[in-house]
Amino acid sequence: MAAAAVLGTWARARLGVLPGRVCAALTALLGSQRPFSSIFKASDLHVELSQHLKPQPDPGALVFGKNFTDHMLTVEWSQDRGWGRPHIKPFQNLTLHPASSALHYSVELFEGMKAFRGPDQRIRLFRPTLNMERMHRSAVRACLPAFDQAELLECICQLISIDQDWVPRSDSASLYIRPTFIGTEPSLGVSKSSYALLFVILGPVGPYFPTGNFSPVSLLADPRFVRAWMGGVGDCKVGGNYGPTIYVQNEAAKKGCQQVLWLYGDDHQVTEVGTMNIFMYWTDEHGDLELVTPPLNGIILPGVIRQSLLDLGRKWGEFKVSERIFTMADLLKGLHENRVKEVFGSGTACVVCPINHILYQGQSYHIPTMENGPDVAKRFLKELTDIQYGRVSSDWVHPV
Ligand SMILES: *Cc1c(COP(=O)(O)O)cnc(C)c1O
Ligand SMILES: *[C@@H]1O[C@H](CO)[C@@H](O)[C@H](O)[C@H]1NC(C)=O
Ligand SMILES: *[C@@H]1O[C@H](CO)[C@@H](O)[C@H](O)[C@H]1NC(C)=O
Repeated sequence: MAAAAVLGTWARARLGVLPGRVCAALTALLGSQRPFSSIFKASDLHVELSQHLKPQPDPGALVFGKNFTDHMLTVEWSQDRGWGRPHIKPFQNLTLHPASSALHYSVELFEGMKAFRGPDQRIRLFRPTLNMERMHRSAVRACLPAFDQAELLECICQLISIDQDWVPRSDSASLYIRPTFIGTEPSLGVSKSSYALLFVILGPVGPYFPTGNFSPVSLLADPRFVRAWMGGVGDCKVGGNYGPTIYVQNEAAKKGCQQVLWLYGDDHQVTEVGTMNIFMYWTDEHGDLELVTPPLNGIILPGVIRQSLLDLGRKWGEFKVSERIFTMADLLKGLHENRVKEVFGSGTACVVCPINHILYQGQSYHIPTMENGPDVAKRFLKELTDIQYGRVSSDWVHPV
């Protein structure tokens, strides 16, 4: 506890950068010999502060994923020694064996979450325990080792605290957090990794809709391409799910569409949009107002924002909220009968992202999302961002 807590407090109090010597002395106090460890603990954090703080980019010119903060978190694991101590150190390149299993077989998983600075200058995470649980499930599926979710979250909070100056002072920008877990097995056999590296990097990100207005996106729905399938890993945030989608995203762009609408099965079930979950607000076949999203049946990524929209919609109690399969035929029939009000994606990047066109089997279909406000999408955006930025109190936020 002691060293990490002291360093965290010092960084928080902004007493300036600690000389490396002080850190080294604190490290020595904690001892470097350690027995096999089945978990790592935030109280064992070793902190080495950067001596060369980078200039911070202009908040108006932030491009997603291009700028990184001064520090990173790394924790190594091996089959024989278990978890090593967690380290916070200057942001730096990794050194990997060229046979590392992450590079060849995509023994790799990641998370995406954000920290928000409120008008009270406090920094908050949004439902981070859901990300920790999802990361843990991905690790089990990738045969990577278990970790203590609360300890990882505490290490992430300490990292953010040290890089707190990087959390934008803005009610539309935020700090993106990318926890990553890779197999570093230095051999070409396709087998369970006996070496692994968990790391976390951070970077400031600007608003998803820079103009401040919702700008709707158009989608290519081409059933020849499939993102995930039953029995696969579509419900895990593993790297192998994303690399192969870039080709399809390019196909969409060639046809003038901004994102891919992922269909599944002979009946062309609607599953996800790009790297977002999908929602439809409409009058259902029985004449009832309904907010519908596909169920977590194995091919859907269990989004934190997806869960939050379901929770909010159910709390409002103003319309039916369903997790059930719907198909392109259902959507097109609804459109034809003027029953579809709003279609939007959901995810950490945008919260909600309105959809106004779908290109399907050579036909372009207009979705009247914008014509309908979009009232429900806007209300979700406002309620969630008010919580994220601490403008209203909620037990969904975790102070850093
Ligand atoms: C990350 C992701 C989402 C959104 O998850 P959030 O936790 O809401 O950000 C949705 N679909 C896919 C395929 C994803 O990778
Ligand atoms: C931010 O990223 C851009 C694009 O990579 C780069 O040109 C710029 O130098 C970065 N800014 C800082 C302060 O690191
Ligand atoms: C880190 O990697 C990048 C990209 O591969 C490279 O441009 C950069 O020089 C490396 N930095 C150091 C310090 O080696």
